[in-house]
Amino acid sequence: MTAARPWPLGVEGIAYGGDYNPEQWPREVRLEDIELMREAGVNLLSVAIFSWAMLEPREGEYDFAWLDEVMDNLADAGIKVALATATASPPPWLTRRHPEILPVTEDGTVLSQGGRQAYAVSAPLLRQYATKMTRVMAERYGDHPALALWHVDNELGCHVPHDYSDHAAAAFRRWLEARYETIEALNEAWGTAFWSQRYDSFEEIFPPRVAPTYANPSQQLDFARYSSDELLTHYRALRDVLREVTPHIPATTNFMLSSATKWMDYFSWSKDVDLVANDHYLIAADPRGQIELAFAADLSRGVAGGDPWLIMEHSTSAVNWQPRNRTKGRGEMLRNSLSHVARGADGVMFFQWRQSKAGAEKFHSAMVPHGGRDTDVWRGTVGLGRALESLAEVRGSRVLNRVALVMDYPSWWGSELDSHPTQALRYSEEMLRWYTALWDLGIGVDIVSTSTDLTGYELVIAPTLYTVSAPEAERLAEAARAGAQVVITFFSGIVDENDHIHLGGYPGAFRDLLGVRTEEFYALQEHEILHLDDGTAADMWSEKTHLEGAEAVRTWADGPLHGWPAVTRHVVGEEGGAAWYVAARPAADGLETLVEEIASAAGVEPAVPGLHRDVEAVRRFAEDGTTYLFVLNHSDRDQVVQVSGQELLRGTEADGAHTVPAGAVAVIRES
Ligand code: GLA
Repeated sequence: MTAARPWPLGVEGIAYGGDYNPEQWPREVRLEDIELMREAGVNLLSVAIFSWAMLEPREGEYDFAWLDEVMDNLADAGIKVALATATASPPPWLTRRHPEILPVTEDGTVLSQGGRQAYAVSAPLLRQYATKMTRVMAERYGDHPALALWHVDNELGCHVPHDYSDHAAAAFRRWLEARYETIEALNEAWGTAFWSQRYDSFEEIFPPRVAPTYANPSQQLDFARYSSDELLTHYRALRDVLREVTPHIPATTNFMLSSATKWMDYFSWSKDVDLVANDHYLIAADPRGQIELAFAADLSRGVAGGDPWLIMEHSTSAVNWQPRNRTKGRGEMLRNSLSHVARGADGVMFFQWRQSKAGAEKFHSAMVPHGGRDTDVWRGTVGLGRALESLAEVRGSRVLNRVALVMDYPSWWGSELDSHPTQALRYSEEMLRWYTALWDLGIGVDIVSTSTDLTGYELVIAPTLYTVSAPEAERLAEAARAGAQVVITFFSGIVDENDHIHLGGYPGAFRDLLGVRTEEFYALQEHEILHLDDGTAADMWSEKTHLEGAEAVRTWADGPLHGWPAVTRHVVGEEGGAAWYVAARPAADGLETLVEEIASAAGVEPAVPGLHRDVEAVRRFAEDGTTYLFVLNHSDRDQVVQVSGQELLRGTEADGAHTVPAGAVAVIRES
């Protein structure tokens, strides 16, 4: 199948490599690098991400000799380059001469140079210098045989998702004028009749800087939208230079899609990147981190609209930036990598190629560790290269699911605003709870935005979809009318896009679809537990819900709402569809039983029935009808899988009962 999106030029099979920072090393090490890269089967590297100060040591004076040599050597070795714009960390001479490009925090602190990403994307001078550097790079390397892809800046918004500088204030005002046109429209949208907040002109408006108490929530929501858009605007400015100078080279930037990255609405960035590239790191404290990894991978595929994508950075072993960093166990790096591939990645890359000897990231693992070749990490690097070579034919095949999880960044921002019924709610935790229940049942899921047509899905789950416009709500209703089981959970459909309540009872936007009406929320205290009539526990939330067409599936078994509905079901249309309302936050066991019940009503089944819950099974479908079954055994016992075909990693036949040893992976081209 030919990918709908462009791919790094000249990269055959599955892409393999990582960030390469040769400026940290002398020539002899760089020559050894080439040998090691060949040994590992590397075919793609991200180069020059943080090279600005080395390439332009003084304003207007360039030193390209070292990069020319690196690019030439890589080209000779047949290794392709995702070349960076080199703009991710402005050189000290720039911030010294123009400290006004430095970003400012909510409380007015100016962030200094000396780390990285010390820039305000809205500062006109930063834009000017960064587009100039981008042009210099494009003009110098645009025709270089190693160039396969442009890597714009790096993880835009990673350290400074929000800038509150005066540049940002000016850009925010321009953004608001474009959105509202008149100050009257803004006053209406922000509900400024409250607390004497009426504005007489756009000039009076600031970013929501630290204030005596809660800032206007509509302003906070718009500032989140503006901040995501402003980072994207910066990306576009650099990307447009590349398109002008090198229209034949695809361009992207590395996203940070995960349950931890809240502030960039990547669904709205998707169309601006030629291919979706993601960076993902395991959370060391999470004993089942493979589930959050799978969530991030499914989300990457969702943002890519189902097209192949690239895992551009992950780690071979421990990282350096968590409170306690964890070394990966035996086989874990291979499992992590192939979990991304199973979920649609056609390339596997790492931060970074060679572990740094100095600097803040010297304790971050890499493909070539401090200890050199006689290490588990290096053997893992070589082993992964071989594995990916044997999976070349998988490239371009797709993941197809009948279940959708609806994710919405404005709902993430909105549901976690201050001055709410509870401050305990974490949107991404709610997403992950439902995702985990599906994972434990072995059911594959697409993670999609609120603008996706949902009518092809059998089961649609929208956790805490707090911020909802009428057309967005309508898409969920359409899915139910088309025959899907649609699940909406508590604190959904509460406000419109301006954070104004949908009046008449909660969950306003979904009341008719769900056939219920909630009159009041009953948020629970920390450690307070209630029970449902199936005997399972629930925490954090309850609400007084009237049935208005729906039936109760679970009721509260104790507490002030004893006997009132906690989970409801409303038959919708003639196609067997139903809308379920989960007005509670059931504990994991109760949630899993509920998901099982709803999945069975939807007729949705696991990719492979009967597997241990720590065994991941995912299928990719090729255009010619070939299917590839990935089985990743995260458990400590062998797993027998009923499957026949060719096992690609070992080149053996799978004939019926196929054993995937503890910790191992099998990829079977099914017959
Ligand atoms: C991010 C950055 C990299 C590196 C890694 C470390 O992904 O893009 O430059 O700092 O984190 O995990």
